[in-house]
Amino acid sequence: MIERRVDLRSDTVTKPTEAMRAAMARAEVDDDVLGYDPTAARLEKEMAKIMGKEAALFVPSGTMANLISVLIHCEIRGSEVILGDYSHIHIYENGGISTIGGVHPRTIKNNEDGTMDIHLIEEAIRNPNFAICYPTTRLICLENSHAHSGGRCLTAEYTDKVGELAKKHGLKLHIDGARIFNASVALGVPVSRLVQAADSVTACLSKGLGAPAGTIIAGSKSFISKAKIVRKTLGGAMRQVGVICAAALVALEENVGKLESDHKKAKILAEGLNKIKGLKVDLASVETNIVYFEILEDSSITEIELFKYLEAHGILVMPEGPLKTRLVIHHQISESDVQYTLSCIQVILFFFFFFFLQAYLEIES
Ligand SMILES: Cc1ncc(COP(=O)(O)O)c(C=O)c1O
Repeated sequence: MIERRVDLRSDTVTKPTEAMRAAMARAEVDDDVLGYDPTAARLEKEMAKIMGKEAALFVPSGTMANLISVLIHCEIRGSEVILGDYSHIHIYENGGISTIGGVHPRTIKNNEDGTMDIHLIEEAIRNPNFAICYPTTRLICLENSHAHSGGRCLTAEYTDKVGELAKKHGLKLHIDGARIFNASVALGVPVSRLVQAADSVTACLSKGLGAPAGTIIAGSKSFISKAKIVRKTLGGAMRQVGVICAAALVALEENVGKLESDHKKAKILAEGLNKIKGLKVDLASVETNIVYFEILEDSSITEIELFKYLEAHGILVMPEGPLKTRLVIHHQISESDVQYTLSCIQVILFFFFFFFLQAYLEIES
């Protein structure tokens, strides 16, 4: 029987805390589609302030937040957006910007640190004099922290440079900030400064912050007015949404302060995994709460075997390709959970190595 459960699949797996549940139970609510929910309004005001933008809007998910933002910046069909080849918008959002928005993606290689080379972005901007053939570039998207590169952070200086480039060419800049609070804490730079150059930014409440659902879009007042209309079109406007926003307000209060400790635990986990024979972690990539490890090809265990044994010990992880595994720290993972995970993996790999060696010696003798 499993006595312990350590869920490292994602930071989206957290359960609402008692304080969140209590706040949800007593939340003041009204019809938010009509614009009257006081708790949603309070959350949006607070988030606009944190993000240094004129206004903000609560939407059901990060995917919808990105889609709404791209649709507004690229409202003419056939517009082109420049984004990373490993950006969440490009890989994991069902190609919604194309299927729903008629927006054409122009991808640039994401470097290991999540950036795209500025000169490559500039080269990818279409020449408007050849609009007879080219789509029109209207938007650049960045992602901070960059999930696929292991939660690495884009600095304010890098983002400013991309913002300057966007301005120079009359383009808009959108930041997918699903984990912008993690980036802010890791870099020691306020969220508002990190997204200063952006025309729009999204921030998920249901990832590092640990709220049960929802994402905020922030931008100018006119951008958010348009976002409200597109949210309604996409079916994302909800009535007494204050029930969910109340939990998000508690998450902001309770959990931003815990991110630093999450990042420390991620480092302990990464260093521990890297010491285990048969595994490899790129330690430089662990800047926030995400850890990727690889099973070395000459290792005696396969990924499927490892997952099976980890699950039997109550440890859940996320496969990311044939030899790569993702672990994500969140506020409901303790230091002792990290140590337990490390010892289980160590023991499983030791036994596999031992049996592998024994089988080999038997064949040889
Ligand atoms: C970087 C990034 N952006 C956007 C999203 C989409 O968020 P959601 O799952 O709320 O649609 C995710 C989800 O994991 C993400 O990691």
